[in-house]
Amino acid sequence: MKRYLIFSLLLTVAMAATSNATAQNALVGIPVNYDESKAGDYKATLPDPLIMLDGTKVTTAKQWEKKRRPEIIKLFEEHQHGKWPAKKTKIHYNVEEDLGLGGSAVRKQTTIYFSPNEDGPKVDVLIYLPKEAKGPVPLLLNVSFTANNITVSDPGVKEGYNWDEKTKTKTPAKSSDNTEGFKLDETIKRFLNEGFGFATLHYTDIEPDFLGGISYGVRSLYLKPGEEPAADEWGAISAWAWGISRVMDYFEKDPDIDAKRIAITGLSRLGKTIMWAAARDQRIAVVLSSCSGEGGAAISRRNFGETIGHLVEKTRFPYWYAANYSKYGADVTKLPVDAHMLVALIAPRPCLLQTGSTDNFSDSKGEFYSAIEAGKVYRLLGKDDLGTTELPKPNQPIYHTLGYFMHEGGHTTLPTDWNIFLEYCKRYL
Ligand code: GCU
Repeated sequence: MKRYLIFSLLLTVAMAATSNATAQNALVGIPVNYDESKAGDYKATLPDPLIMLDGTKVTTAKQWEKKRRPEIIKLFEEHQHGKWPAKKTKIHYNVEEDLGLGGSAVRKQTTIYFSPNEDGPKVDVLIYLPKEAKGPVPLLLNVSFTANNITVSDPGVKEGYNWDEKTKTKTPAKSSDNTEGFKLDETIKRFLNEGFGFATLHYTDIEPDFLGGISYGVRSLYLKPGEEPAADEWGAISAWAWGISRVMDYFEKDPDIDAKRIAITGLSRLGKTIMWAAARDQRIAVVLSSCSGEGGAAISRRNFGETIGHLVEKTRFPYWYAANYSKYGADVTKLPVDAHMLVALIAPRPCLLQTGSTDNFSDSKGEFYSAIEAGKVYRLLGKDDLGTTELPKPNQPIYHTLGYFMHEGGHTTLPTDWNIFLEYCKRYL
């Protein structure tokens, strides 16, 4: 992520320019720790995913599924991501189908309207399917930072847009939005060659990503003008996750897609988003989370890299979460959940945590520890855990049902990571 890289660069320059030890590793005035010896003992206060709030031990898959899993979902709703309304709005679709990628693939451009009003929030989903498919195909859904016409360089893909935070208006997407520096065309073709479909969407179609974006996104459909969600109600990550579930509703209606075999991926804040989406929506079959970090797969109780305090600081991202989450910036040990429980909510489904060896801000190691702790839930459900407690070297994937892969490099999904994702989909989708 360019934004993140620029931020890291500024931080590094700031660090080099100062000799003051406290100012050295600080973000919004809050120290950022990169010293393992000061990361604290997260295990001392980590909630056990297999002990109910009333102290009962969870020893069967049924108990997990019927009691503990719903209990943990509720805790995440109340304290981190917020509940979303049970009532659905009326959703409708428009599908345009032709050939794309130089005529090599079936291309569908589906617009999902989140309300009867077509001027209201809607998401454009760009879907590629193998031309030679004889029936419904499994598919990877990519939740992206860029509009579809920027994600690929395929003529005929509808122009997408960005939200301008200052003017609160939409502006046409531009090629410089693609900060990853590569287009997904060739990646998509590799998925299609293996019999998978590939879909992509731009997350801010669902709701703009800035404070106040709520007025222009899906949450506005449920609020009176000026009304704010209650402290335990949905933040922006929940709004995006809710939108993803509506895309799942569409997949179920598309006869060319096998909606029981949908994998999902997203990077960074979108890694956090897809994990919460998959925790809530068990129709999502496989999870590939990329550098989800704090508020995603990294243990929050570890004081290493970004912390909840940094996330919810008022000039940063408190609006991603339920207002209640901000309480835990000051004392994370009071939070009744942690990231290992988010990973556990994905069990028994395959879940690969992809991180970066130099992505210390996201605490790649903290994601590994989280997977270790979630392992007991995978084991209870008869699935394989990581199979090790030793952090693998970079570029050595663990392709277990609960998997881990640390690429050599930073905070991004590298072109080569897609090969790992494809291999994982071949094994599990
Ligand atoms: C910020 C935020 C991270 C997040 C990242 C991103 O850096 O602090 O938690 O992962 O943005 O989504 O790019």
